[in-house]
Parts: sequence; structure tokens; C-alpha cells
Amino acid sequence: MVLTGATSGIGLALARRLSDVDVLVLQGPDADPPSAVNALPGARYLSADFRELGEVERLASRILDLGPPDVLINNAAIPGPGRFARTTDGVEVTFQVNYLAGALLTDLLLAAMPDGARIVNTASATHYSAVLDLDDLDFERQPYSAVAAYSRSKLAIVTASRSLAARIPQTVVSVHPGVISTGLLHAMFGSGGDSVEHGAANLEAAMSADVPSGTYLDESSPAAPNPIADDPGFQERLHSLTSRLVGRPLR
Ligand SMILES: NC(=O)c1ccc[n+]([C@@H]2O[C@H](COP(=O)([O-])OP(=O)(O)OC[C@H]3O[C@@H](n4cnc5c(N)ncnc54)[C@H](OP(=O)(O)O)[C@@H]3O)[C@@H](O)[C@H]2O)c1
Repeated sequence: MVLTGATSGIGLALARRLSDVDVLVLQGPDADPPSAVNALPGARYLSADFRELGEVERLASRILDLGPPDVLINNAAIPGPGRFARTTDGVEVTFQVNYLAGALLTDLLLAAMPDGARIVNTASATHYSAVLDLDDLDFERQPYSAVAAYSRSKLAIVTASRSLAARIPQTVVSVHPGVISTGLLHAMFGSGGDSVEHGAANLEAAMSADVPSGTYLDESSPAAPNPIADDPGFQERLHSLTSRLVGRPLR
């Protein structure tokens, strides 16, 4: 089982719940794991900063050295930064860390994952209000804001999860974990939120929810996503753009 973004917030709470899993691979951006991750028995920590797609490729190959995962939880994310910023790969940073890195990691692992495997993509209810102009990833035609950058990365996740479901034998779901009290929430939306255990329970439920592949879960209930996520033309354009940005034809 592989869980990204396991070093704080909802991911760390989920890692604690999963610590009896046979092989649990946890990812965070820093070279050394925080002591809370070190304290988890049996967990293996691998670092990768998703601001570099090369690090995602190295992460995938180290994961595959440990054996093909039966569950992949793409959970790592950042709040939109206060100002527009690009990665060294030339992509708006929120789009890359939150969406592109997970899409690349998934593709690099998929061929080795058994048909019964599951991919859980942590999305967000903010995707409902997102505007994702695929011709304007650099915010040249629309005003930049932290929430706009964040919410469009989550719309990309929901859309790609819906379209990937039709192309692979494995099951893929996306899930809004709830409004959860973490640094990410507070950076964009102020204080408040449910406990990280609540969000982790929703992600854990998504790992085994008896739902069709492609389902979007609002906490633990299947829900209709933003309708644009089901637009075949939009799905195809996002798929092509994603393949171009990661430099390989994605499944
Ligand atoms: N909190 C909410 O209300 C809420 C609502 C909807 C969706 N979500 C989603 O839930 C997931 C978990 O978020 P959270 O609220 O638990 O936030 P969080 O506590 O900030 O956790 C985010 C995780 O991503 C990691 N990360 C940050 N930058 C990274 C990078 N450059 N490369 C690789 N990993 C990186 C963080 O590492 P560090 O520990 O080093 O920062 C951390 O492990 C995210 O996908 C978020 O969008 C959260």
C-alpha cells in the first residue's frame, strides 16, 4: 500500500490507522521523515518533492523495487501559494504538486498493479466551483488566486479519475475527505474543520467502498461531481495535456 502526503494532516492520521498493513510505503517531501512517521512500526518512508517530476519518477521506481502496490492513495497537496509560481518543470506549482505528480505516479505504477488494485485520489468539494481553462494554466487570461489554483487542481483530479476508470482494469475513486482542521485548510479558508481522524476515516472507507470505478465520494457517500468532469471532450483534452506535461503517453 502506498500513501502520499503522509507526513502531516489527514495523511498522517491515515498512516496511523493503516500501520498494521503488510507493506506500507509513506511519502513526504522532506529527505527525513518527521518523528511521527518514524514511530510507525513497519512503515517505509520514501521522500519525493512533487515540485520536480524527476523525483516522482525516482519515487515510482523505488516503490516498484519494494513490490507492486495493491492500493495507491494520492493524497499529497499544497494550498495555492499567495502568488503565482512555476516549478522547475515549468508548470504552475499547485497544478503540478496536487494533480500532475499523482497522475504521473499512478501511470508509472499501474502496469504493475493487479486488476483488483485500487487508486484513491484525494479530491475536494472545492472542485465544484473551479474553473480549469486548459489553455490558460499560467493564469494569463484569468486572475490568479490561491483558491483558484487549488480548486482547479482538484477538478483535474476528479476529471482524470472519471476518465481513467474507463481505461484500466483497476478501480479508481476520488474522494472529498471532509472539511478538516489542517494547515492546508487554514492556509486558504481560515480556522475550523473536523478532526484529521474524521478525514482519515473517509479515505480509509474509500479504499474499500463497494462502488463502481470512477465514483466521486463526498466524504463516504457517492455523489455527482461537477458536470464538466464527465464531459468527454474536456476529459480528452485534459488527458492529452497531462501526457504532454509529464512527457509520456499516459494510459
Ligand atoms: N483539510 C481539508 O479540509 C481538505 C479538504 C478537501 C481536500 N483535502 C485534501 O486532503 C489531502 C491532505 O491534505 P491535508 O489537509 O491533510 O493537508 P496537509 O496537512 O498540508 O498535508 C499535505 C501533505 O502533502 C505533503 N506535501 C506538501 N508539499 C509537497 C510536495 N511538494 N511534494 C510532496 N508532498 C508534499 C505534505 O508534506 P509536509 O508534511 O512536509 O507539508 C503533507 O504530507 C490533500 O489532497 C488536500 O487537498 C483537504
